[in-house]
Amino acid sequence: MITSTTISRAEPQRIRGLEMPWNRVLSSTAGPAGAARALGPWHPQEFLAECVETVPESGGMMTFIFRRVDGAPLAFRPGQYLNIAFPVNGEDQDSLNRSYSLSSSPTEPWTFNVTVKRDPTGVVSPWVHENVGPGTVLEMLGPVGAFHLPDADRRARYLLLAAGAGITPIMSMVRTIHSLPGQADVIVLYHGTAPGSFAFFKELGYIASVDSRVKVFYSLGNRREPEGWEGLNGRLTASMIDQVAPDANGRKVYACGPASYLNNAAEFLGSLGVDDTSIHMEFFSGDHQTRMEYRAEVALAEDIAEEIADSPEEYYESQPAAFGLYEPGYDSQGTLEAAGLQLESVDANPPLPEPPARESDTESGTGFLDTSTFGTVGTGSLTLSFIRTGINVRIHPDEQILEAARHAGIKIGANCQEGMCGSCKIVKLSGEVEMNHQGGIRSREIDAGKFLPCCSTARTDLVIDA
Ligand code: FES
Repeated sequence: MITSTTISRAEPQRIRGLEMPWNRVLSSTAGPAGAARALGPWHPQEFLAECVETVPESGGMMTFIFRRVDGAPLAFRPGQYLNIAFPVNGEDQDSLNRSYSLSSSPTEPWTFNVTVKRDPTGVVSPWVHENVGPGTVLEMLGPVGAFHLPDADRRARYLLLAAGAGITPIMSMVRTIHSLPGQADVIVLYHGTAPGSFAFFKELGYIASVDSRVKVFYSLGNRREPEGWEGLNGRLTASMIDQVAPDANGRKVYACGPASYLNNAAEFLGSLGVDDTSIHMEFFSGDHQTRMEYRAEVALAEDIAEEIADSPEEYYESQPAAFGLYEPGYDSQGTLEAAGLQLESVDANPPLPEPPARESDTESGTGFLDTSTFGTVGTGSLTLSFIRTGINVRIHPDEQILEAARHAGIKIGANCQEGMCGSCKIVKLSGEVEMNHQGGIRSREIDAGKFLPCCSTARTDLVIDA
């Protein structure tokens, strides 16, 4: 006789928040940390990559799947882009450089995807569609760009807005979240012009059907409602955002699309109470300003890539922040235990560093060192005293502390420069700052006097342990 039993499935248990895989490798002291250092997504590299496959997408887009010729994996953050040299005018002429977002997930780093929309009036994208295929080898630089998911986020609640080709970096984010464990809550609102114009439509549908963390909404921007269309209709409005994400104010927003779409998005999000610091945007308009911004970022990436290529050892030694400070925060509930991973113990109340020996308690009023003997640079109404470097930096109340410190030659490791990654964290021994961070620091660290200079301004004179 055959009997059947119903197996009841429990709700999936997930670790708290989202954490990119390199975080745990970097916080380890064992061997793999070295490899992760060399492959950190914060170190752009120049490399050759070979196209291994092309996949036509809807909306006039084509995905090109590449692998590095040197056999190394490509480390990048979901949302970043590559700058690629295309020999449009022949191998013996100067190449044309263009930046294209990565659409694949960094959790599958052995191959990576670049998705290119064909612009019939453009010079490069039609050439790419017609000439790049399996076997094509191109020079690349990257990863580049500050538009990306944070490396660790205990409260991963996102609203991802995309219009047209703006889906490319958003797709990388969705694929990444889908491939990682962790609690996340993701709403995607994707605007296209016609039902057949949504790239990655099938995959997004599949992800939404199997991953309860991801919801996807489509809207036709042109208001014509074709028969059988089950999505939303019309351009982006505040009420549409409210309809798909009534808790928009409480989510981090990543938006990518043409300038007019993003300007509207910023206004609507503001009207719904979403704070500017929660909104991240990538312009896909190719307008003058965007090109200039990309050019500046690519130039910086080139410098870093060259520096690494010239003397990798020295470069990594001068970047301690990239090694030790990417520690994810685990709380006393040990949420990573759900994944069966070994937890490192983290001191819930890390002690403040020993203050330096007192030389003169009174003259400067700092109570630590006589900072009046330090050299002073800069102009401004407030003074930052860097006691390890022995320098005073004059600063205006609206100036970012990291920038002012770097101009004065003070070495503070930093990566995201947006208050997300925590790598610039330093200790303030006295004074008040105004900090506008995005999760890169925990409240107990703030209580212990730490702050992120990349997203802080000074309210008073400060004495800083750096
Ligand atoms: S550089 Fe990332 S938090 Fe400051």
